[in-house]
Amino acid sequence: MRIILLGPPGAGKGTQGERLVKKYKIPHIATGDIFRAAIKEGTELGLMAKDYMDQGLLVPDELVVGLVRERLAEEDTAQGFLLDGFPRTLAQAEALDAALAEMGTPLTAVINVDVGQDALVERLTGRRVCRGCGSTYHIKFNPPTVRSVCDKCGGELYQRSDDSVDTVRQRLEVYRRQTEPLIAYYQKQGILYTVDGSRDIDQVFAEITSYLDQLA
Ligand code: AP5
Ligand code: MG
Ligand code: ZN
Repeated sequence: MRIILLGPPGAGKGTQGERLVKKYKIPHIATGDIFRAAIKEGTELGLMAKDYMDQGLLVPDELVVGLVRERLAEEDTAQGFLLDGFPRTLAQAEALDAALAEMGTPLTAVINVDVGQDALVERLTGRRVCRGCGSTYHIKFNPPTVRSVCDKCGGELYQRSDDSVDTVRQRLEVYRRQTEPLIAYYQKQGILYTVDGSRDIDQVFAEITSYLDQLA
């Protein structure tokens, strides 16, 4: 199962991705998570990505494509993978197609998680993430049992620095301009499936898995 989760910031790619990779036992490859880890470790990659992320802009394609290519070459992708937050530009999508064609491993499906703009702002500004294990919560829609503490690992929850109202608006605009055209790109390939991501987390998950299960 080789899947892309496509959708605007806050659509629930990370939330659904967490669950999907558990069910299908495939690695979760989220470029945003890779960059945040690199920033935390203070690596060169992190230093290069940080300014773009803080401004809500995309990291340049050259930095992202090489990274994903290397990640896809690792052994744990033999049974498939779930890409979350990649590709985000036409150039990235074309580079991915070329890499997968070379490996002889075409995509199974592109799941487009569709959510309206107003809901996205509320989701992002209320999001909290675990410092320990990266699990995602929402103060209203998916709160932890104990305030600011992760249910899974007891870690501290924090707010992403790009989840401020202004940066969120910028990210949504960048999505509309640079990433939304990928919907048509994958529709043309006949592998796009759009799910209504405005329903609750379990309902969205049920719809995605019932679609993927009938493909297998
Ligand atoms: P990235 O980390 O990928 O962020 P994003 O695309 O902006 O998406 P998010 O992680 O914000 O949203 P999500 O869809 O994962 O939603 P979530 O599940 O958390 O990228 C960050 C930055 O890195 C970019 O801006 C860019 O600079 C850089 N970058 C990354 N990849 C790149 C690339 N390929 N090229 C160039 N640059 C790149 O859910 C959001 C909230 O809503 C949570 O609180 C959650 O609990 C809640 N929620 C989820 N589902 C529901 C539901 N059904 N109902 C109610 N609440 C829900
Ligand atoms: Mg995410
Ligand atoms: Zn945790």
